[in-house]
Amino acid sequence: MRDHLARLRDAFAAAGYTTSGVDALLGPQASAALARQETVPARRATRGRSALDTLVRLFLLQLPVPEALLSAAVPLEEAVALGLVELSGGEARAALDVRPYGEASEPSGTDPPLWWVVSDLGTGLDGRARVLPEDHVLGVGGASTMLAQLTPRDPVTTTVDLGTGCGAQALHAARHSGRVIATDVSQRALRLAAMTAGLSQVTLDLRQGDLLSPVSGEQVELFVSNPPFVVSPAGRPARHTYRDSGLPLDEVCARLVGEAPGLLTPGGTLVMLANWVHRAGQDWRERVGGWLPEGVDAVVVQREVLDPAEYVAMWLRDSGEDAATTYPEAYDGWLAALQDAGVAGVGLGFVTLRRTDAGTTSRLVDWPHPVQQPLGPELRDWLDRRSWLAHRDDAAVLASTLRVGPDVSQEQVGRPGAEDPQQVVLRRAGGWRPAVRVDTETAALVGACDGTLSAATLVDAVATVLGTDAAALRARIVGEVRDLVEDGVLLPDTRGPARAAADPPV
Ligand SMILES: C[S@@+](CC[C@H](N)C(=O)[O-])C[C@H]1O[C@@H](n2cnc3c(N)ncnc32)[C@H](O)[C@@H]1O
Repeated sequence: MRDHLARLRDAFAAAGYTTSGVDALLGPQASAALARQETVPARRATRGRSALDTLVRLFLLQLPVPEALLSAAVPLEEAVALGLVELSGGEARAALDVRPYGEASEPSGTDPPLWWVVSDLGTGLDGRARVLPEDHVLGVGGASTMLAQLTPRDPVTTTVDLGTGCGAQALHAARHSGRVIATDVSQRALRLAAMTAGLSQVTLDLRQGDLLSPVSGEQVELFVSNPPFVVSPAGRPARHTYRDSGLPLDEVCARLVGEAPGLLTPGGTLVMLANWVHRAGQDWRERVGGWLPEGVDAVVVQREVLDPAEYVAMWLRDSGEDAATTYPEAYDGWLAALQDAGVAGVGLGFVTLRRTDAGTTSRLVDWPHPVQQPLGPELRDWLDRRSWLAHRDDAAVLASTLRVGPDVSQEQVGRPGAEDPQQVVLRRAGGWRPAVRVDTETAALVGACDGTLSAATLVDAVATVLGTDAAALRARIVGEVRDLVEDGVLLPDTRGPARAAADPPV
């Protein structure tokens, strides 16, 4: 298989079947249309008979191509032997999806990777939906790219990618990890991930098994997972491996968040996508916060909440089940089960945490607003700042020199002509783009934080200028200062914003 894949890789590269080659051939309009599942503009752009035209029509547009043209483009016997292509009556058809991949969230300063990802053929081109088989191996989608962008890309010794599917996360990890263990419960997924790895010339340690069982006893610095997190009742008849864990409701996420940190080396990081149940009368933070084990600093972000009907319809659409005659029954059964289980809504978001071996600290935020991607470096810095704060009591925080972050701006809102603004908001343009409402005293303090004087000295100066009691102001403001540090509005000046976590406890 290895030789076959190497020969195909060479043929793809020679044909220009790469991300930049395909972009150049299709142009922005046909590329955008194809992203919307419309093939017509791309059909028009690929009417030539070049190897690249042929490969794009075969794999990306799922069109039959003349066998003679394809055999001029790639070693056909190998493509057939690998199960990528089927031949019939002088025509070739794609049996699997093979597409070039690799762009954002790479370590900066490195060349773009030459990767190809193998997955099952997607559905829905030109409105032609079909129900996906239960063992369907998903290609790179919105969730995959989101997780790739959320993952910090610092060099590490070992990464685990749990539920690797087509192997997309594992490819990213291989760029900055000495070793990548990629697991999946599905033998079919592992077969396709092996082809992804071979075509992309990346070495993966592929292991089959349920959840954490293939990696028990491992110690890793990075754990990433886009798990089968879909909230569905156990025992629902249609079980799509790519989305249904078989465990009831959000138990798969609870288990992974609770148990995967046990694999991390001290300082190791976990990043995973997750869905969680909302129940009437219970704050989602309580539920998800309750999953966290001892000895981690965690940040959990809820990006969206869907009501049960929206949620069920979205996932039935995703698997093409909305095109089936059984759609109403499938919808009804799933919805009824969620309602019987007391599910009022489903939160969609992600969990990132770092193993600390101290007490557990967590911040769980609702953040439906745009963020600056890739968010991975910001999440790492966020955990660094949490750690910096966890190691300092209030007096130590005030004794520090802080500086206002380079991406912070101040917005003032008030009546025209009014002497004082009614509201002052400090907003970061970068990272997760938090916006914090502050009073004039805090705004004055932040404005003075240039990394030269301690926060305590500056608070005292603000108190003098505003004619307030310095001790009372210090006591009141320190909580806000802690929050501003955590949000990256104020940065500890010890070793820059990113690596404050390495500081010893004070
Ligand atoms: C949403 S896909 C993620 C694919 C890929 N990692 C990505 O980010 O694009 C979830 C993957 O988890 C796998 N999976 C499902 N149940 C599992 C289990 N119990 N243990 C391990 N993997 C599982 C599926 O086969 C599927 O490949």
